[in-house]
Amino acid sequence: MDQFPSPLAALAWLLEAGVDEALDDRAVDRFAVPQPPPAKLAGTPSTVGRPMPPPQPVRATVSVEAAMIDAARQLADSCADLAALERAIRAFDGGGLKAGALNTVIADGIAGAPLMVIGEAPGAEEDAKGLPFVGRAGQLLDRMLAAIGYSRTTNAYITNVIYWRPPGNRKPTVAETALCRPFVERLISLCEPRVILLLGGTPSTALLDSKVGITRLRGQWHSFLGRPVMPSLHPAYLLRNPAAKADSWRDLLALQARLTADD
Ligand code: URA
Repeated sequence: MDQFPSPLAALAWLLEAGVDEALDDRAVDRFAVPQPPPAKLAGTPSTVGRPMPPPQPVRATVSVEAAMIDAARQLADSCADLAALERAIRAFDGGGLKAGALNTVIADGIAGAPLMVIGEAPGAEEDAKGLPFVGRAGQLLDRMLAAIGYSRTTNAYITNVIYWRPPGNRKPTVAETALCRPFVERLISLCEPRVILLLGGTPSTALLDSKVGITRLRGQWHSFLGRPVMPSLHPAYLLRNPAAKADSWRDLLALQARLTADD
């Protein structure tokens, strides 16, 4: 029996799984694509039956990535002010991400504000408008900030660890966040926020180099570039798990106390 009752049902299933963009003009039948030949077996008795070691693209890939990160860091560090940094980010290709996005989404709010909020990556609405956190999660974020006396129009600055919408709203990869990190760091140095709020696991693990998940990381103060950082739950997660709002509220109160203590 067919797994899907109709092509429309198959399409709906794909959309739900986040496959919402065509990468090519023509469909590719992956089952028809020739498979690589099986690994050759060496002829000596000691290695008979063991596959030959694969070719070694890994080290080459790692050094290409390291070179790209170096280039991004040099570019970011050469930017004397925010305008220059914005131009540099817009001219950057984000390791290919830019090609699939409508807009480069850098930041919204007051540069130089005491609070900087760093999220994951633009979604579809952010990509369309060129501004971070303008969809449903963004509206919840605005309400969360308002509850502790902050807003993007008066005293907060909002950005992400990635400046382009990943295809199908997938999570950014470690390589993508590593490539953008020099720009995030430069943005922080130029804006000099007193306190940073990280929203969700992606920015928290990317910037704090932590292997611990966000549910264990949240609610504790960390330090990044010499500034106090609070990792907390992403508003998109809170929309799906309203019971977690109590934890989020505790984090927001700690954030507010730190910001007002420094006044
Ligand atoms: N989620 C994010 O992490 N960032 C945005 O800009 C929008 C949604």
